[in-house]
Amino acid sequence: MAGQKHGARPIPVEETPGRKAYCTCGWSEELPYCDGTHHSMAPGCRPIVVEVAEAGKKWICQCHRSGNMPWCDGKHKDAKPAEE
Ligand code: FES
Repeated sequence: MAGQKHGARPIPVEETPGRKAYCTCGWSEELPYCDGTHHSMAPGCRPIVVEVAEAGKKWICQCHRSGNMPWCDGKHKDAKPAEE
């Protein structure tokens, strides 16, 4: 079984207006969007649901350190690089 797919860097998307559900569990096959996999893989986890008002490029936080979730605020740059 593959592991969680979210990483330490934001995912850029050309977003369209409307209601969006962004994955927070990292198991979605549709990152950065929720595909419902949290129901089976992370039952306590829920997506972040927001209403996007304007179309445009958005950077979706994957490190979970942003102070403005679901949007990246640059905090991932403070993280130490993962050991290989
Ligand atoms: S990915 Fe940039 S603050 Fe989380």
